Amino acid sequence: MDDIMSSIDDYCCAQSTLHEKMLDEIERTTHLKTLSPRMLSGYLQGSFLSLISKIKMPENILEIGTFTGYSAICLAQGLSKKGKLVTIEYDEVHGAIADSFFSKSSYNNQIELIIGDAKEIIPTLNIDFDLVFIDADKASYVTYYNLVIDRCNSGAIIIADNVLWNGKVIEKKLDKKTKLLDDFNKMIKSDTRVENVILPLRDGINVIRKK
Ligand SMILES: C[S@@+](CC[C@H](N)C(=O)[O-])C[C@H]1O[C@@H](n2cnc3c(N)ncnc32)[C@H](O)[C@@H]1O
Repeated sequence: MDDIMSSIDDYCCAQSTLHEKMLDEIERTTHLKTLSPRMLSGYLQGSFLSLISKIKMPENILEIGTFTGYSAICLAQGLSKKGKLVTIEYDEVHGAIADSFFSKSSYNNQIELIIGDAKEIIPTLNIDFDLVFIDADKASYVTYYNLVIDRCNSGAIIIADNVLWNGKVIEKKLDKKTKLLDDFNKMIKSDTRVENVILPLRDGINVIRKK
């Protein structure tokens, strides 16, 4: 990030609200105990996820890619009283860190962490979703979308992270991973079942609403 963008990011963080002491602790632990702390959503994107969830007040949230639990806690803030968040994580070490935070959070009874491959687990879930956050392996975004779209209620919001892939989507020649994300964005744009907007927040998020 160049200096001006970094300063703008700092300003946006300073002037945005995200209340939950535990998030700082998750961020610290993630830096200490994982090899890729950059995967964590962070303050600004976390504020966005929290606010969208609070506006939507979902009964059921699905998160694909828990990592250490930061985004799950942000999303859980908007759950309706009886609402539930299912979050799926492939890596047991990441899952154990996330679980240690979920169990001491006020959302303990509302968050269900499932360890395994999201591609195998999603078809076994007998739930219709109001909010979905896609944030696991980028090569599978099209698969995840196809697995969840028919399980989303009308008006549901699907948010896909990292869709600008470090700005690489605008390069003339796309590498394999970038091409998959570009294909995903193009598929969403042409899907008449949904409307969407891509926001250049952090690494780019595609915010999709099922009609
Ligand atoms: C970018 S991180 C998620 C960050 C998290 N949502 C946050 O904002 O703090 C992606 C996570 O997805 C997990 N993952 C990758 N492939 C997966 C799969 N097929 N099923 C479930 N989880 C997967 C990775 O182990 C990693 O922890």
